[in-house]
Amino acid sequence: MTAQLIDGKALSQKLRQEVSGRVKALKAGGIVPGLAVILVGEDPASQVYVRNKVRACEETGMYSVLEKWPDTLTEAELLARVQELNEDKNIHGILVQLPLPRQIDATKVIESIAPEKDVDGFHVASAGALMTGLPGFWPCTPYGCMKMLEHIGYDLKGKHAVVIGRSNIVGKPVAMMLLQQNATVTICHSATKNLKDMTLQADVIVAAVGKRKLLTADMVKPGAVVLDVGMNRTEEGKLCGDVDFDGVKEVAGWITPVPGGVGPMTITMLMVNTCESAERSAGQR
Ligand code: GUN
Repeated sequence: MTAQLIDGKALSQKLRQEVSGRVKALKAGGIVPGLAVILVGEDPASQVYVRNKVRACEETGMYSVLEKWPDTLTEAELLARVQELNEDKNIHGILVQLPLPRQIDATKVIESIAPEKDVDGFHVASAGALMTGLPGFWPCTPYGCMKMLEHIGYDLKGKHAVVIGRSNIVGKPVAMMLLQQNATVTICHSATKNLKDMTLQADVIVAAVGKRKLLTADMVKPGAVVLDVGMNRTEEGKLCGDVDFDGVKEVAGWITPVPGGVGPMTITMLMVNTCESAERSAGQR
């Protein structure tokens, strides 16, 4: 193996400790940062995610409420609940776990969250703030990717970053973040011709498609930084990313593993955003 590993678990721990310190300071001033997590229905993966989010709040000393609603909940009922949380002074972050049941329009629900409490960074106001460089909340997974680059001391100025995937949650926002750091950014997607020609030019590759072994060793320039956002399963049911780790680690300069890479960073950045929201409400930022 030539690549150095970027350990998302260790970095998460360090960042969560920093958050704990900020939470302590807020509490000393009489403010307890609070996150409301709403789960509608019984999606098994979502149940695990929300449990981990609540646990992370407990670990960092934050207040959290987990609201579990049956999958028969109507859109109007959910919108009314979000409205109440928008007005709740004890809540600084609101997260509605996706996917939502069919009868509920997810976009409508996300847009009903007050932007100053949109710690998931999914609201159009948050997307617009990122695009224009205004203060707002950055979506947690791409924000985690940027923290990893910062952690290894990587200077993006003038570097070529290739993002594979154009989702609103990862691909598009991470491209904006890389651009803000003065990288030259290419976004590739399912209609891109000759993906390999693009990735071979990249100093940094962010793979965020959801396809196993999408990025193989022959597609990577020696020394490149490879961030793997994929969350897939092998035929044996083992968690794996979009990157053929065993091959690519022999070529890349830096690489994130799956599991233990970008994954743990997502919830950590949610804690960072929630803490920041509480600080902003207190006029500290
Ligand atoms: N479903 C899968 N990932 C996420 C996430 O980061 N936030 C929300 N709200 N739902 C999700």
